[in-house]
Amino acid sequence: MGAHLDDVAALDAAYHLPTYARKQVLFVRGDGMRLYDDEGREYLDFLSGIGVVNLGHAHPAVADAVDTQMRRLVHVSNLYHVEHRAALAERLSALGDGGWRSFFCNSGTEAIEGAIKLSRRWGRTRRGDACHRVVTAERSFHGRTMGALSATGQSSKQGAFAPLLPGFDHVPLNDVEALDAAVTAETCAVLLEPVQGEGGVYPCTAEYLEAARRICDEREVLLVFDEVQCGCFRTGSAFAWQGYGVRPDVVTLAKALANGLPAGAVMASGDAAAALGPGDHGSTFGGGPVIAAAALATLDALVSEDLGTNALSAGAELREALESLAARTGALSDARGRGLMIAVDLAAGDERVALDAQAIASACLARGIVVNAIGERTLRFLPPLVCTSSETAILIDTLEVVLGGA
Ligand SMILES: Cc1ncc(COP(=O)(O)O)c(C=O)c1O
Repeated sequence: MGAHLDDVAALDAAYHLPTYARKQVLFVRGDGMRLYDDEGREYLDFLSGIGVVNLGHAHPAVADAVDTQMRRLVHVSNLYHVEHRAALAERLSALGDGGWRSFFCNSGTEAIEGAIKLSRRWGRTRRGDACHRVVTAERSFHGRTMGALSATGQSSKQGAFAPLLPGFDHVPLNDVEALDAAVTAETCAVLLEPVQGEGGVYPCTAEYLEAARRICDEREVLLVFDEVQCGCFRTGSAFAWQGYGVRPDVVTLAKALANGLPAGAVMASGDAAAALGPGDHGSTFGGGPVIAAAALATLDALVSEDLGTNALSAGAELREALESLAARTGALSDARGRGLMIAVDLAAGDERVALDAQAIASACLARGIVVNAIGERTLRFLPPLVCTSSETAILIDTLEVVLGGA
């Protein structure tokens, strides 16, 4: 006998800290783009965790790698070498066109903490203690631990937890002049998501990232890209920065790195790779044998199945389909994003849109489609990178019905 939604929801309500407003569904199984609930109902997943399961659910190569490693060796301390971890670091470096060293942790927020520590350590050796400030973007999201939360550019998520860590300056995205003015001798790093995710899927312009690279080079400041959400082939290339042709000094990864198991990485190249030494940073579980094996299998499958190419073609198809839906219904803005990281806004004040984004996501769920609402006006689409035309067509048909209030 498997679990049932009502029982699990009752336990959840009684025993979890209520940090999530969960949807009333219990997924118990997955397969590729599909999820199945406790009653065997099938759903198409256009969220993949939140941009986590890039290979699709229950990928056999990852399952096999985990199963084999679980039976062989689960844990040794980071004081010792680990079989797949070194190969994983090498693979990440090669995927990033070479010259990278990695530190492994367990989540996106930890990767950001590592990048902040690395940047501060680097800044101190360049210009002394004053050189510790980090410039980040308004509306950015970098995580929930105190350093990453302080870096985040969303006061709604921060206010209740003051005092935040000092030393963060927030600038409007894609505004070169504002960035130019914010980077001073006290700045050790500029931290940007090439495509903002939680803020509503807002891509940086190529001109902005090129200017950020130039400003950081001129003033000897590290350029750090948070690719926790937009990395791992989600926007077509292994790293989003490759699609822009702007190479940063430091990159953070997590989410899709091990296709659903907790993995994060801080990658650094050039001088930045020498900033941290023995004893400066650590993690009990980071890059452990099972996670390293899972991440290696994930990256191998993303490459061998050429899912970056599919992210680009399926992404273009989804954007086009959303735009023609917008033209037919008048209910949606133009689609924005890169690869399979896409959002649309509900047309402001349009009486044809009876539901807000949260209600639309719930109505889609009731019809077997998982989509994500950000706030009341934005719908986000982050399907597994195996998404096909027929699945996109089902999403669009469902949205059309829901938007029409049928
Ligand atoms: C760009 C970005 N950075 C950092 C994080 C934090 O990652 P985690 O939830 O794994 O701590 C997220 C999570 O959504 C993210 O999207």
